Amino acid sequence: LLDKPIQQPLFIKIMEKNLKSHGTWIGKWTFVLAATGSAVGLGNIWGFPYKAGDEGGGAFVLIYFLCILLIGLPIMVSEILIGRRSGTSPINAMKIAAIESNRSSAWQLVGWTGIIAGVLILSFYSVIAGLCLNYIFISAASSGVIEAQTQFENATQSWQGLLFWHSVFMILTLLVVSAGIKNGIERMVKILMPMLGFLLVFMVMYAMLNGAVNKALSFLFSPDFSKVNTDTFLSALGQAFFSLSLGMGSIMAYGAYMPKEQNIGSTSVSVASLDTLVAILAGLAIFPILFSFYDGFSIDETLVQLKENGLGPGIVFVSLASAFNDMQYGQLIGPIFFILLSVAALSSSISILEPGVAFLSEERILSRKKSAIVISALSWIIGIGSVLSFNLWSDVKIIGDNNFLDSMDLIAVKNLQPLGGMLIAIFIGWFMKESLIKDELGSINPIVYKIWRFFIKLVAPIGVGCILISQLF
Ligand code: TRP
Repeated sequence: LLDKPIQQPLFIKIMEKNLKSHGTWIGKWTFVLAATGSAVGLGNIWGFPYKAGDEGGGAFVLIYFLCILLIGLPIMVSEILIGRRSGTSPINAMKIAAIESNRSSAWQLVGWTGIIAGVLILSFYSVIAGLCLNYIFISAASSGVIEAQTQFENATQSWQGLLFWHSVFMILTLLVVSAGIKNGIERMVKILMPMLGFLLVFMVMYAMLNGAVNKALSFLFSPDFSKVNTDTFLSALGQAFFSLSLGMGSIMAYGAYMPKEQNIGSTSVSVASLDTLVAILAGLAIFPILFSFYDGFSIDETLVQLKENGLGPGIVFVSLASAFNDMQYGQLIGPIFFILLSVAALSSSISILEPGVAFLSEERILSRKKSAIVISALSWIIGIGSVLSFNLWSDVKIIGDNNFLDSMDLIAVKNLQPLGGMLIAIFIGWFMKESLIKDELGSINPIVYKIWRFFIKLVAPIGVGCILISQLF
């Protein structure tokens, strides 16, 4: 079915249907800034350190690098390429690329799964980001008398509190996206990204001066391959995928606003490098503080302690928060860290909302403002389930043994997102006309092109397919 060529009249009809244009980014660095904003988020500053901790440190970090380079980067190039080709939302971008290549317009389904994944991801992303906002105040007020574990319980036991902060974060996301590309997203990332860079460098310097630097460095950079198993690979690849915002249309939507003269390959390299750099810097900001908090313990003993204490999602809200409670300027450093986390989360959440909003508004189904309200309201409502999974519904299992939040993560991040990424790789590798691809890539070194082709045709689909298959067991 997917191979069936489309008759000319339909093709012309679609091209003639005048889709509402969103405009392009102004300035050479705006795409890099916005895409880096999308990539750098809770995944880097909260997810990466805890997974690295969980999977044994250095070896995980090394495998993560490889996943970014060999699978993430080629797919990122593909997404930008498809988006920029048509300048439309992922649904129409996939449709137009398919029709131009004489393929079935059913490829637009990739765009649709992306939008569904986006609504689900945003639903719980906003709950956790809301908790980060709340922690700006919690960590500022904390006197060290109340234990971090109790603080965390207090913050998550009240569904009213979580719901309030979830709503605040969703409204912030909505406001930015509804203001449009130039006045909303572009203006916001130009403020948020420098702020993020500054806060992160500050946190790293603080951790270097006051924390257990040597332990942190040897934990992050000396690989111990005895701890590696298949799960390490799957976890690293999943993390790389989430962190680069791939497979659901965020990067494709942003690519649509990229001016034609910009080089897709080098921009992708910049975004992937910055994203990886931030993940490493986040590790360098967090682990020295954690290791110095467990002064006198070895690295392995510390990890055992951390695991008991909530390594895992609790790494920032419990383990790091207790280090802040204990530290001299903790009431100042704590809030700075949580502002950093919130800023990173906001520049990501807007990119999760954008693909759906772009679709509804370019089709003139609704205005941009109304589209943003409708989609974020949908995510907000689904997010209530994740709010409740911390308290009233903590025992309610939705899929298998997973509570509501984990089930959303399972559907959207562990299944739909890799599915989207795999289909994009297969489409570009096997179905899209090569002349169109070469047209978008511009002057590219033929050897680099051949290598990219190989990775997108074989390595990426197989690698990502493994994540999907592993979900079945
Ligand atoms: N990459 C972001 C992070 O690391 C989250 C994100 C933004 C995302 N857009 C996405 C994740 C699209 C999956 C798909 O936090």
